[in-house]
Amino acid sequence: MGANLQINGITHTFGRTAEPVLKDLQLDITAGQSVALIGESGCGKSTLLHMLAGLLMPTEGCVRVNGRQITRPHADWNMMFQRPALYPWLSVKQNVALGLQFTGQKQGLRERVREMLQLVGLSDRRDDRIQDLSGGQQQRVALARSLAVEPQMILLDEPFSALDAFTRRGLQVEVGRIARDRGITLVLVTHDIDEALTMGDRVVVMGRNPGTFRDVVDVPLAYPRNPVHPDFMRLRSQVMARFEASIDTPASDKPRSDQPVSEPTFREESAHVQL
Ligand SMILES: Nc1ncnc2c1ncn2[C@@H]1O[C@H](COP(=O)(O)OP(=O)(O)O)[C@@H](O)[C@H]1O
Ligand SMILES: [Mg+2]
Repeated sequence: MGANLQINGITHTFGRTAEPVLKDLQLDITAGQSVALIGESGCGKSTLLHMLAGLLMPTEGCVRVNGRQITRPHADWNMMFQRPALYPWLSVKQNVALGLQFTGQKQGLRERVREMLQLVGLSDRRDDRIQDLSGGQQQRVALARSLAVEPQMILLDEPFSALDAFTRRGLQVEVGRIARDRGITLVLVTHDIDEALTMGDRVVVMGRNPGTFRDVVDVPLAYPRNPVHPDFMRLRSQVMARFEASIDTPASDKPRSDQPVSEPTFREESAHVQL
């Protein structure tokens, strides 16, 4: 089952004299929920995700998983990056087995690997080498490896941004479905508003200099989501407006997040926004 995650008053500064890159972040994510973090490049998304993974300690505040403060990485949560971190000299099935081997789960390993490859649709590529696979297939291998250890939480750092639009959309839908089926908590970092709305129960809009949580937008739409449905398009406009309001203006000049934001009319070019 998924993990309850608490981002508890996080402020972070790299080095002693620098300005904070993240400031006063506060958010509770319940088990099995999926949250998309969206924000301009450099606003601190990856830094925050590293903290959620236990790879970096904040200078103030903490991350709690199921009530316990995170101080180091753990096999129960998994991170996936833009480029899948696979071993090219190993086969597909060997790569999928790695997570299980690292965590000492030898029993039933072959069966589990088979099951995971089936889940991500790569059963027929099990003996192939990694470099013979497409980018999307490689991300599926990374996903299968992450899922094999039955994680409580998956942290995704722009995992689909190097893929073509069709592959990207397929994986967004599939990863979301698998996480919901298994009750896995999902935190997704993206700069793509459609990706955030396709996968997130909530979308958190971040501001920068310093990185803050500007807005939290609920996405009360059924899955799988249809990007041309009027409700989806309405939310896209809403998130877009909040996002534009957050760009490159100091935090102190911003409207408070509880103030209403006017909705712009839908524009075709915002249909798939790469920021
Ligand atoms: N190890 C580090 N040392 C110093 N500054 C860093 C380090 N990592 C990231 N930063 C700075 O923190 C800010 C946020 O970076 P990052 O989290 O990578 O942003 P994002 O993922 O939103 O693009 C940037 O200004 C970046 O230069
Ligand atoms: Mg980043």
